[in-house]
Amino acid sequence: MQFTVAIDGPAAAGKGTISKAVAAHFGFAHLDTGLLYRAVGARVLTGDDAIAAARGLTTADLERPSLRTGEVAQEASKVAVIPEVRHALLEFQREFAEREGGAVLDGRDIGTVICPDAQVKVFVTASAEVRADRRYKELVAQDPEIKLAEVLADVIARDKRDSERATAPLVAAKDALLIDTSDLSIPEAVAQVVAAIDEARGA
Ligand code: CDP
Repeated sequence: MQFTVAIDGPAAAGKGTISKAVAAHFGFAHLDTGLLYRAVGARVLTGDDAIAAARGLTTADLERPSLRTGEVAQEASKVAVIPEVRHALLEFQREFAEREGGAVLDGRDIGTVICPDAQVKVFVTASAEVRADRRYKELVAQDPEIKLAEVLADVIARDKRDSERATAPLVAAKDALLIDTSDLSIPEAVAQVVAAIDEARGA
């Protein structure tokens, strides 16, 4: 059985947490596609060329411990503007989406570019303040010096770069279910996605 769930949205909207929970509920595989761009960004920060890094990405790159920092996130959104970088990562994502047993992919362009035929598409959003606050709580555990204002500025800068780029910009697919998590708990958001998948599968 092939079944693809595409979950897109701006930075720190809760896509990762929702995707993991939905994948666990149905026993589907989950791919955090942001990690691919973060891994390319991390290699650029250590002096590599972005396109060469994207073409030669390895599992070890995806397992680097520092991929979740704000610095890597910013660099990820810079390399994500480069069409050749996006192209180099496309096939891996499509193959993942088509695997047997179902797949959930989260990112920015899953429902629009990577898997335009996904059976279920979701666009998760929340106000920039709510998203920055959530990301701040995650990051402060590793870096007690970090400031909420810095995290908010990072989120706003990345959203702008992701939305304004020419190739695969951040935009909701026309047929996506829109979920605003500003005033919604993550379990409530998960329940909405689970219901949409159940309906698409005729359960
Ligand atoms: O976790 P968060 O939402 O903050 O970011 P992420 O999903 O890890 O993505 C990091 C960056 O990678 C984003 O700001 C995008 O620039 C880029 N990205 C992308 O262009 N396309 C994707 N499918 C996923 C991420």
